[in-house]
Amino acid sequence: MKRILIVGAGGQIGSELVDYTRKIYGGNNVIAADLDESKLTKFQIDGPSEKLDALDGEKYHEIVKRYKIDTIYNLVALLSATGEKNPTLAWKINMGALENSLEIARQENCAVFTPSSIGAFGPNTPADNTPQDTIMQPTTIYGVCKVSGELLSNYYYYRFGIDTRSVRFPGIISYATPPGGGTTDYAVEIFYEAVKNKHYTCYLKPGTFLDMMYMPDALKACVELMEADPSKLIHRNSFNVTAMSFDPEMLADEIRKHIPEFKMDYNIDPIKQKIADSWPNSLDDSCARNEWGWNPQYNLAAMTMDMLEKIEEKYNKGLI
Ligand code: SER
Repeated sequence: MKRILIVGAGGQIGSELVDYTRKIYGGNNVIAADLDESKLTKFQIDGPSEKLDALDGEKYHEIVKRYKIDTIYNLVALLSATGEKNPTLAWKINMGALENSLEIARQENCAVFTPSSIGAFGPNTPADNTPQDTIMQPTTIYGVCKVSGELLSNYYYYRFGIDTRSVRFPGIISYATPPGGGTTDYAVEIFYEAVKNKHYTCYLKPGTFLDMMYMPDALKACVELMEADPSKLIHRNSFNVTAMSFDPEMLADEIRKHIPEFKMDYNIDPIKQKIADSWPNSLDDSCARNEWGWNPQYNLAAMTMDMLEKIEEKYNKGLI
């Protein structure tokens, strides 16, 4: 029986992971927790929710005990560009939430899922077809937290037998909740601007290739990895996963297949460009495919079609 706590439920992934897991495990078995109470309202219709600052270990522990949680999804993080604005805060939040999650999991014997990221790689990493096990020397505080988090999560597995698992997510594209403060956010913003204004000013240069994934595949990755047979897992923290790799021009061309008058120009953000340049162009995710059957459903064409359809729907209803 799964009793799941999703910490950071109000964020980009959490907002959709709550509904997704409630459909699988039942509404009352998935508890949505977030620091911002206003983000919890939408989860209160079909299950429990709790206001929680993940840095408050005492309250976090009390919630895990009260709901008899056996699986924690720790989704709390400041993303890469926000992290560069306040590195000490990024370290405090990203590592503090993980430390609490792991320690509480150790005491209450919970499994823990924490997303790592393409941001865990750095300029010395082979950029194309980046292997699962390779050089990891990130140059952002976000990446430093992600590598440290991978190592700490593996430590809890080896030292205490805690069932920690993780994927290195690429940029996640979704229409429900916007991401915030990431380097890959352009690949979401572009859709809103294409629908509303038929024009987007991109902050990354043409030719900046990055891995990306559509949200339905990201949700599938979270649950499939946590459901995977542990005896098949050679790796744990963390698996390369990807679904597509493109640069801004390729994405704009794909959008133009549906909105021919769409125009894109550029105004480069030097900080985000530097971050993007330090990350891989494309990941090799064969270990995830072999060890737990990772198999994404959406490529660039399928994702673009669905995103435009969903955002046009929101636009026509006056929601954006
Ligand atoms: N989407 C994240 C970011 O851009 C990467 O994991 O920061």
